Amino acid sequence: MTEHASTAGGDRVVIFDTTLRDGEQCPGASMTFDEKLQVAELLDDMGVDIIEAGFPIASQGDFESVQEIARRAKNATIAGLSRASFKDIDRCGEAVKVAGKPRIHTFISTSPIHMKHKLQMEPETVLQHVIDSVGRARNWVDDVEWSAEDGTRTDLDFLCRCVEAAIKAGATTINIPDTVGYTTPAEYRELFRQVRERVPNADKAVFSVHCHNDLGMAVANSLAGVEGGARQIECTINGIGERAGNAALEEIVMAIKTRGDVLPYEVGVETTMLMRASKIVSAVTSFPVQYNKAIVGRNAFAHESGIHQDGMLKNNQTYEIMTPESVGVKSTSLVMGKHSGRHAFKEKLKELGYSLGDNALQDAFRRFKDLADRKKIVYDEDIEALIDDEILAAHD
Ligand code: KIV
Ligand code: ZN
Repeated sequence: MTEHASTAGGDRVVIFDTTLRDGEQCPGASMTFDEKLQVAELLDDMGVDIIEAGFPIASQGDFESVQEIARRAKNATIAGLSRASFKDIDRCGEAVKVAGKPRIHTFISTSPIHMKHKLQMEPETVLQHVIDSVGRARNWVDDVEWSAEDGTRTDLDFLCRCVEAAIKAGATTINIPDTVGYTTPAEYRELFRQVRERVPNADKAVFSVHCHNDLGMAVANSLAGVEGGARQIECTINGIGERAGNAALEEIVMAIKTRGDVLPYEVGVETTMLMRASKIVSAVTSFPVQYNKAIVGRNAFAHESGIHQDGMLKNNQTYEIMTPESVGVKSTSLVMGKHSGRHAFKEKLKELGYSLGDNALQDAFRRFKDLADRKKIVYDEDIEALIDDEILAAHD
């Protein structure tokens, strides 16, 4: 695609997929050992930079799947999640250490509400946990990510102190999650800008976004965080995740690929595998993908209205900003329904192998519209039956 395609060749943004951890955490999305291996293999082949394979302390099954994914990964870094406890971290270290590129991701809450009610800890104790947990993780691996859970509702001064301490203790990635999907794009962009400006050793770590979709802004917030200086995006296939989900990987990647003019970043994901990834994750979790879901929904490249179909038949860039092929969809579909126009109907007849004279075409189109008023979608077989009737009637 020429007019819209854009690869700006800007800064590399690392894609961190957490389908197997945060995605699996949502009710009803649990996957079997084999299903997890299947998803991980696909993510690895697709060029995802980091795969968060699970939460090894959560269960023996989780430990084993993280370990096996770590053993099999060909290209991706394999991360495991752990709370800020030595027991968690050691279990995680044990699971990921067999990977070619292992990462321990450790987190603790830093917001007043979480520290007071969930952790029941004073801020200074939390700060000490940050230092101790990152130090412990560094005994296992060189690549340590530290997350400030509920980061967007954290006091900025305290957040900066924690970030500085985590980097000093050896964290190489700093993640500031919008755990409850509360932030807005402008606010999140500014948060990263401020933290990076205020923390003296900020340039020693990669900053990361991790957004939940409670207000439907997870993807917009993630991209805004990148504008604020983050260079890692945490996301999931189909946007599955806690409550309303996480930022959707396919939307993030295609936004960057399609709008390189205003989002001048490089991502390494092979976009033609996005649809396959969506289908596999939907199948193994039994989570349906909504019809109008961006990029991978059934209607993402389907057109029914006569005006749109007419435009598409003249030039596909009239109503599509990316090609279906670029995300692994075979082709655009012009769905025949009551909104379809004469142009699309004629093209459909051609595709089905019919050639009608003007009067017959006029008559068939009128009958098609009558049928479409009664039926939501008119399938190829309906049109074939309708034309065959028309032909028979003409011979009577
Ligand atoms: O949403 C969140 O805060 C998380 C952390 C564990 C990174 O998932
Ligand atoms: Zn999360």
